[in-house]
Amino acid sequence: MCGIVAYVGPKDAAPILLEGLQRLEYRGYDSAGLAVVNRGLKVRKVKGRVADLAAAVPARFKGGLGIGHTRWATHGAPSDVNAHPHLDGAERIAVVHNGILENADEIRAKLVADGVDFVSETDTEVLAHLIARAVKETGTLADAVRTALKAVVGTYGIAVVDAERPGEVVVARNGSPIVIGIGEKEMFAASDVAALVRYTRQVVHLEDGELAVLKADGFHTFTMDARETAKVPLTVDWDAGHYDTGGYEHYLLKEINEQPETVARTLRGRIDDRFHIAHLGGLNLTPHETRAFRRVKIIGCGSAYYSGQIGAQLIEELARIPADAEPASEFRYRNPVVEHDTLYVAISQSGETYDTLAAVQELKRKGGRVLGIVNTVGSAIARECDGGIYLHAGPEVSVASTKAFTSTAVAFALLALHFGRVHDLSPADGRRICEGLRRLPEQIREILGREEEIAALARKYADRPSMMFVGRVRGYPVAREGAQKLKEISYVHAEAYPASELKHGPLALIGPDMPTVAVVPDDELLDKNLTTLGEIRARGGQVLMVGHRMAEAKLADDCIVVPKNEVELDPILLTIPLQLFAYHAAVALGRDVDKPRNLAKSVTVE
Ligand code: F6R
Repeated sequence: MCGIVAYVGPKDAAPILLEGLQRLEYRGYDSAGLAVVNRGLKVRKVKGRVADLAAAVPARFKGGLGIGHTRWATHGAPSDVNAHPHLDGAERIAVVHNGILENADEIRAKLVADGVDFVSETDTEVLAHLIARAVKETGTLADAVRTALKAVVGTYGIAVVDAERPGEVVVARNGSPIVIGIGEKEMFAASDVAALVRYTRQVVHLEDGELAVLKADGFHTFTMDARETAKVPLTVDWDAGHYDTGGYEHYLLKEINEQPETVARTLRGRIDDRFHIAHLGGLNLTPHETRAFRRVKIIGCGSAYYSGQIGAQLIEELARIPADAEPASEFRYRNPVVEHDTLYVAISQSGETYDTLAAVQELKRKGGRVLGIVNTVGSAIARECDGGIYLHAGPEVSVASTKAFTSTAVAFALLALHFGRVHDLSPADGRRICEGLRRLPEQIREILGREEEIAALARKYADRPSMMFVGRVRGYPVAREGAQKLKEISYVHAEAYPASELKHGPLALIGPDMPTVAVVPDDELLDKNLTTLGEIRARGGQVLMVGHRMAEAKLADDCIVVPKNEVELDPILLTIPLQLFAYHAAVALGRDVDKPRNLAKSVTVE
């Protein structure tokens, strides 16, 4: 989604803003712009990339206060005029905004009737005009911003400057993240810590309904009704190096290759070999409370939801507690029945996905107990939950999720082990799972070592218009995630089905033009899966099998053999070759791997 950066301090703002915007490009954008204050406002905005903006900014673009933005169009097409910042008619106020103002048309009509001229088609421009009107009456920028925000309905993360106040920037949040960065005699703000870590690791997250005034020597935060709030800065443990490609051609390939280490980090310090249990300090649940839950409901969006399906199976298998996963985006709209003996688990890499956050807020409003499985420390979802597990996977920059997916599945394995050992999982089975978890990083490394073999298969299949992905029970979420990766980064149409459902409809699609990727773990359903392979091939369909048993490979046209772990943990390993397959298919097709069309990393709007 859109990105925001703001700076106030003794240095020139423009290079800092441009650098920050570059760091946010991965969130998705179609235009970019910035404004600095120096005896009036200086503004540059372009349709295109941050590099195009940098080229448009003249060398003498001086000023120690500024705001910048990368836009992902919602109201109005991508264009120079619709790019942010937006200004009032007198060019005194400049605003950058993430989110959507739902009553913008209504406000615009009133302002137009009052004689205000609009230059863009955006919802954001109404804010610039509202703030400009209010500032004449309130006298302070902070009060003017509060007044204007009271008139709008919708979501926002904003940063505002006033040409007549060259020493301060005002930021505010409602549903779209704003993080303040604390420097030495300088202050920053951004929609994502990625834009800040080059300058500072001390950050403060704004809550919904909070605003802040930043000056070079400090900041203060307050609510919409002007009550001061107290904030404790957090130290971010990611540095700028985490946001480099580290010598890989793409972030995606770097992040796929990081998985032995990221999985090890998710496990670190959390396995107890004495009692064969998991230590999960952040759950904030006593064994007594844990035993009282009769059900587990998991919510997340996209790949996070698919990893939740793996999680639900792990919890049912190891703890024998009924568990299921549902897209958070659906859950929040169906007026869910919230039960006191159900534990809710929200999953999010970014911790900012709007649909997931809204679902958590709905649950909390109804008194539900919610745990978060989140990668980004201090993010909105993490703050909203009653407890949870951090993934410690490091920042995921590429739009398509890979290392967060595997780390989430690993976090669920730890959670399921913990619940299992509080319930009836035997010490012997607990030990089996602990040992299996410890083997994962090395086994992932082994799969990554076969990249060339997988790349050759990806090149072989990449020119097909469509691919089917199938799996049964443990293999099904893996198939869904495999199809998701392929379609989002290579744009090859991919459908995932439970293998058992093929003959209830989709078998009609199978033929020479529709190859199938079959996820075939060596578990109690192996024979059934092999029968499915036979059915597909009998109809002229090619099969690429991803599984464990070499001997069965002859039943498929191609095969990727994956090291075997415990059956419950196998889905984690079976996912890795499908990530590499999607990556190499996308490269073969010349796609923009890290920034697939129409997608953004962090979906902070509905
Ligand atoms: C797919 C992908 C998305 C995200 C989804 C949720 O590769 O990245 O489907 O998984 O948008 O994002 P988070 O986990 O940040 O809530």
